[in-house]
Amino acid sequence: MAQGVRGTRDFYPEDMRLRTWLFNRFHEASLSHGFEEYDAPIIEHEDLYTRKQGEEITQQLYNFEDKGGRRVSLRPEMTPSLARMVMARSGALPLPIKWYSIPQCWRYERTQRGRGREHYQWNVDIWGMDGIEADAELLSVMVSLFRSVGLTSEDVVIKISSRKVLEEVLGSLGIVGESFAKTCVIVDKMDKLPAEAITAQLSDLGLDDDSISTIQSVLGIAKLSDLSESLDEGSTASTELESLFSLIDSYGISDWVQFDASIVRGLAYYTGPVFEAHDRSGNLRAICGGGRYDKLIGTLGGKDLPATGFGFGDMVIMELLSDKGLLPDISSRVSDVVFCMDESLRGAAMSVSSKLRQSGRKVDLVLEGKKMKWVFKHAERTGAERLVMLMPDEWSSGKVRIKDLETGDESDVAFESL
Ligand code: HAM
Repeated sequence: MAQGVRGTRDFYPEDMRLRTWLFNRFHEASLSHGFEEYDAPIIEHEDLYTRKQGEEITQQLYNFEDKGGRRVSLRPEMTPSLARMVMARSGALPLPIKWYSIPQCWRYERTQRGRGREHYQWNVDIWGMDGIEADAELLSVMVSLFRSVGLTSEDVVIKISSRKVLEEVLGSLGIVGESFAKTCVIVDKMDKLPAEAITAQLSDLGLDDDSISTIQSVLGIAKLSDLSESLDEGSTASTELESLFSLIDSYGISDWVQFDASIVRGLAYYTGPVFEAHDRSGNLRAICGGGRYDKLIGTLGGKDLPATGFGFGDMVIMELLSDKGLLPDISSRVSDVVFCMDESLRGAAMSVSSKLRQSGRKVDLVLEGKKMKWVFKHAERTGAERLVMLMPDEWSSGKVRIKDLETGDESDVAFESL
């Protein structure tokens, strides 16, 4: 019974301190770019997620029937909830919408390093903007997070491509709409599944050998300058990516990014630029990922609105920071430990604690009779700066004894001037 459900985590206080530290970096990076926080329920109607393009995520739902006979699911990702919220207020929200959130998401995945069955996923999205200026701004948010946790462009690379690359290539082969989305979902699995399995899945979709080898050669392109050769003259994909990289340059974050045509992403709804950050050593799974999804609301029965965003999990980043020795040492939590030498002073200890707390100190009041030795050890464990002692003689003249735990200095201070 001491063990929780497989793939879920407990956060003991030392884990929670780190999690809060990371979440604060998420908040800061979002707020510094003018994003506002939102939230949604962890449970949604199942059909918000039952897309039919063969995505892994739709096969990993924590879904069930509730007591009222409704099919519901824990959210595997935030984007559909966000789309639902935007759709519900369609027309009423001033555009562009720049929102962020840090939801817990649930996927019945094979657990491995950096992947669990629940994770917290920082989501940053912009709605109502067609231009790649929005995508560039998101990359800036992402880089500011990396910088804030002490990572550099030597540790991390954001690989960028666009769904439009494949769309143009496949469009000329007659693969459009639903089959295009399905093809992307399969192509995304290329580095996870054997080549024969991919070929088999693509031919099931009706792609012939020539089309498959065209896809493979396009995905192998690693330089933006080589892309235009494989696409038609005046290709939107190529022009858009060039503008995106030029904006990235203006943000001063070119060192962090790299064009890579093999980035397609495994979710069906992406329609434009797509990006994924990886650790340069390639030891870990993707740190985060996202892209443009201009047609998601349409698939939910609403009127399309351009959108772009990314999801950034809390697990891989922590693994990476730990590998690099960048996890912060956050031990100190209280400022004062207050304790009374004598039971007759218990009430006084409470008054002193209240006064200190009202002045903004973080006070840990020792709630039961303890030996001096225990109190010192406890103060050390809690990282307290000061020990505030109530002693009979001092208190009778309205004073408390304060010991500075760093210097060892002691002084008597009047209750009034605490
Ligand atoms: P995703 O690539 O499925 O995209 O997930 C985004 C990030 O969430 C991953 O890169 C990873 O950091 C984290 N993540 C996903 N699954 C797990 C897991 N099982 N365990 C730990 N971490 C995980 C999406 O979910 C999109 N909805 C993101 C997005 C937002 N696109 C546009 N806006």
